[in-house]
Amino acid sequence: MPGKVTLIATAAMGLESIVSKEVKALGYEDVEVENGRVIFQADVSAIPRTNLWLRTADRVKLLVGRFKATSFDQLFEETKALPWETFIEEDGEFPVVGKSVKSKLYSVPDCQAIVKKAIVERLKKKHGVASWLKETGSFYRVEVAIHKDEALLTIDTSGSGLHKRGYRVGQGEAPLKETMAAALVQITNWHPDKPFVDPFCGSGTIAIEAALIGQNIAPGFNREFASEGWGFIPQKAWDDAFQEAEDAADYDQPLDITGSDLDPKMIEIARKNAMEAGLGELVSWKQMQMNDLKPKQDGGYIVSNPPYGERIGDREEVEQMYRDLGMIMRDYPSWSVYILTSHEGFEKLYGQSATKKRKLFNGYIKTDYYQYFGKKKKQTAKGF
Ligand SMILES: C[S@@+](CC[C@H](N)C(=O)[O-])C[C@H]1O[C@@H](n2cnc3c(N)ncnc32)[C@H](O)[C@@H]1O
Repeated sequence: MPGKVTLIATAAMGLESIVSKEVKALGYEDVEVENGRVIFQADVSAIPRTNLWLRTADRVKLLVGRFKATSFDQLFEETKALPWETFIEEDGEFPVVGKSVKSKLYSVPDCQAIVKKAIVERLKKKHGVASWLKETGSFYRVEVAIHKDEALLTIDTSGSGLHKRGYRVGQGEAPLKETMAAALVQITNWHPDKPFVDPFCGSGTIAIEAALIGQNIAPGFNREFASEGWGFIPQKAWDDAFQEAEDAADYDQPLDITGSDLDPKMIEIARKNAMEAGLGELVSWKQMQMNDLKPKQDGGYIVSNPPYGERIGDREEVEQMYRDLGMIMRDYPSWSVYILTSHEGFEKLYGQSATKKRKLFNGYIKTDYYQYFGKKKKQTAKGF
């Protein structure tokens, strides 16, 4: 069994610092942040724990090696020198995928073939196999990623991307990735005892992620991971991680979360997704026009991903909707409002400059996350 391993939590552009915070909150130190990834050292039990708990990372990859490679010979020799046998068993199946950006070694199929050959040679020698490797056992997806002549060799521990929580049975036209929805919630300082509303909820992703955060439910609780069958991770590490998640869930935490949408079909889908996520009736779903929004309590949070008005014909309607939202929320100064949109005129239409803005990519769409902090009620001394 390896002692420490180096893990990479991959992150959508703009979310690296949020992923890094999550990694640190799980107790891992030695955390480095790079573009699109967070790198950290940990023992192997971190593979189950991070896969189960990271809400905003795309995947967790095991870093096997990182080196300069400007020739195929170098790529072959450096790959062969890495301790693949520590991770991949004699009968392991290990397809190699690749990518190359701004590098001398630009032919991805050639790089993949060379890496495959080098690993085969290494494994045959170390596992003492004279003939061919059967590759009938556990699955290890190896990736060779070359960027500016630096090769990064990893094995994916997650399987399908971590956004696939296992609860999405239905979706609308423009669903938000679950990892992004979780990040939108985490960027706010919402506390589960405060009201939470998504008035453009679509398939319900933001409200569902808020409920999972609110009750401290591990986002990966409902799914499987590629590394579950790997020999070098003791079964106990998986059992302990699932047990830890079970113990940490706070199913008694009351929540006041509402998702509403104009489209009744979306409300149906959102309700089904929440059921699938095991949330039962915890989130209130309502078919409603955003214009009918009338918050009843103080100090709540609106977190939403409304239409952006990018389709021809939609723009005017969407712009009016942003104006209306601004007008409505003017009457509720204690509420905090967080809106993700690619519409650059949002603040003007909403009628107020955001307290804070953050650039984020929703898939390939460049967006801003407009954050309006609610006013805190003035404290009055007792008796006055
Ligand atoms: C970008 S989608 C939200 C996607 C959602 N975040 C998800 O993950 O599925 C925007 C949603 O706004 C809804 N919508 C459009 N106009 C509306 C209005 N005036 N009031 C309420 N909802 C509206 C649409 O039906 C659509 O579901």
